[in-house]
Amino acid sequence: MQIFEHIPPIIREIKKLKQNGKTIGFVPTMGAFHQGHMSLIYSSKKENDITVISIFVNPTQFNNKNDLVNYPRTLDDDSVKLKSCLSHKDIVFIPSEKEMYHKKDKKVFYFGNLDKVMEGKYRKGYFNGVALIVSKLFKIITPDKVYFGEKDFQQLVIIKRLIKNLQLPVQIIPRPIVREKDGLAMSSRNVLLSEEQRKNATVIFRTLTEAKKLSHNLSVEETKQWVINKINSTPLLQVQYFEIVDSIELQPINNWKEDKEKIGCVAVKAGKYRLIDNIRFDI
Ligand code: PAJ
Repeated sequence: MQIFEHIPPIIREIKKLKQNGKTIGFVPTMGAFHQGHMSLIYSSKKENDITVISIFVNPTQFNNKNDLVNYPRTLDDDSVKLKSCLSHKDIVFIPSEKEMYHKKDKKVFYFGNLDKVMEGKYRKGYFNGVALIVSKLFKIITPDKVYFGEKDFQQLVIIKRLIKNLQLPVQIIPRPIVREKDGLAMSSRNVLLSEEQRKNATVIFRTLTEAKKLSHNLSVEETKQWVINKINSTPLLQVQYFEIVDSIELQPINNWKEDKEKIGCVAVKAGKYRLIDNIRFDI
């Protein structure tokens, strides 16, 4: 694999590859790889000539300095994982903060309702920071296809909107949530949980799965309350929000009869950490 730390050489390399007719798949990440990240990389490998992976812990999407400082950084392990699946032509982009933000960037993106709800409510400026870095990366990499996980469902919806608003010639490929054996959605932050928090966190996916079944007998409101009560009755866990929304505008669903794809999105506090997960309601 080829490793780049600076923007001009990676732009030159990608231009060369494209002139030779190669298709480019891109997987943006913040590193600390687990099987969720790897599933995106495998998909890109299958569907493109060249795969580009970026590893950059993006400071503009952290509104909490401690969270930024404590974010797991495991570059050596990540490199081993990448070497085992990338070819010599694939590209890893590991820029420094200075490389990506050489001057203060105050660009403000407009996403209407999309970044006001759920994660947007609890993490001020988060999606603006995500949009900022992703749009910069898209400009550098000029991918044909980009890969995003449904684990961060709201992020996926917002990036779809970003691509539409900027009229970028890129196809976005969503990939399903990869879970631990006990159902917990894989996340780079899971390693930060205490043993007991980690054990109790399995209730999140069990509850969402059960709620999907119960939805056939309960109203939307009753289902929401049931999920919140169930998770809150587990020690060490506290629901921040549980919303059932449509998958395009992220507006709340009021009635199961609404003819829209319905997603239940949850954020749960476990001590100072937050865990997010979601499930499709096929009702
Ligand atoms: P990061 O958290 O590293 O995630 C990179 C990609 O992996 C995202 O598309 C995310 O949705 C996906 N992912 C994470 N956990 C997953 C899981 N359990 N199953 C499937 N996919 C999973 O998301 C970011 O980085 C950043 O916000 C970024 C887009 C790179 C911008 O900085």
